[in-house]
Amino acid sequence: MRQRLVVGNWKMHGSRDSVHALLTDLVAAPAPGGVGVAVCPTYLHIHQALSLCAGSAVAVGAQDCSAQEEGAFTGEVAAAMLADAGCQWVIIGHSERRQYHAESDALVAAKLAAALGAGLQPILCVGETREQREAGDAQGVVAAQLKGALGELVSAPGLVVAYEPVWAIGTGLTATPGEAQSMHAFIRGELDGLAGLDGDTTRVLYGGSVKADNAGELFAQQDIDGALVGGASLKAADFQAIVNAAA
Ligand code: 13P
Repeated sequence: MRQRLVVGNWKMHGSRDSVHALLTDLVAAPAPGGVGVAVCPTYLHIHQALSLCAGSAVAVGAQDCSAQEEGAFTGEVAAAMLADAGCQWVIIGHSERRQYHAESDALVAAKLAAALGAGLQPILCVGETREQREAGDAQGVVAAQLKGALGELVSAPGLVVAYEPVWAIGTGLTATPGEAQSMHAFIRGELDGLAGLDGDTTRVLYGGSVKADNAGELFAQQDIDGALVGGASLKAADFQAIVNAAA
């Protein structure tokens, strides 16, 4: 039985006031049983988030980490620093990192290894662009991303995969439940044998314009274990409704 998981990726949003307001509401909301909940603020807001979430069911993660352990890497944050701060999760290989920061599969693999080495649970993001889907290449792209990230790893304890079709992120376009389900089932098959993972027990989240009003039909699909939520995670009521839909 795979535990449902709903994660908010706040991207580059937030101020001390908005983080306080959002997390105060979220922590006060009754936590539905059986659903893990996490938020991923900017690095700057992680400490504040950890203190607001202390003693609650809401875990905290980061949106990225360095592939390096430590040293002269200006602007970078090491996985071990995130673990030391109290983070449980880290998002790796988000399409915005791949697109705007030229993150290759090799770099994603190195970050994944760093995160696992620090004892963090990585959320590995994969997904195709619209052009790749229209060219009939969606599965090939996702398979290559999974192999590129996980192919050299011996084990990946606690790893979660997030399928985020690039064309559905922040666009209001969502993969239909059927499209998402079919890719999730494909991902499970691809995961078998990679990094010692078992496709049946590894959690696979969907991401891309998940909202309160479409979450239920996505979560009704047998291979969708929850969501990685962008825009709708910035309002407590909207995010909580998605969490409730996962229960
Ligand atoms: P949106 O929910 O805003 O489409 O973002 C999805 C995402 O990129 C989560 O990581």
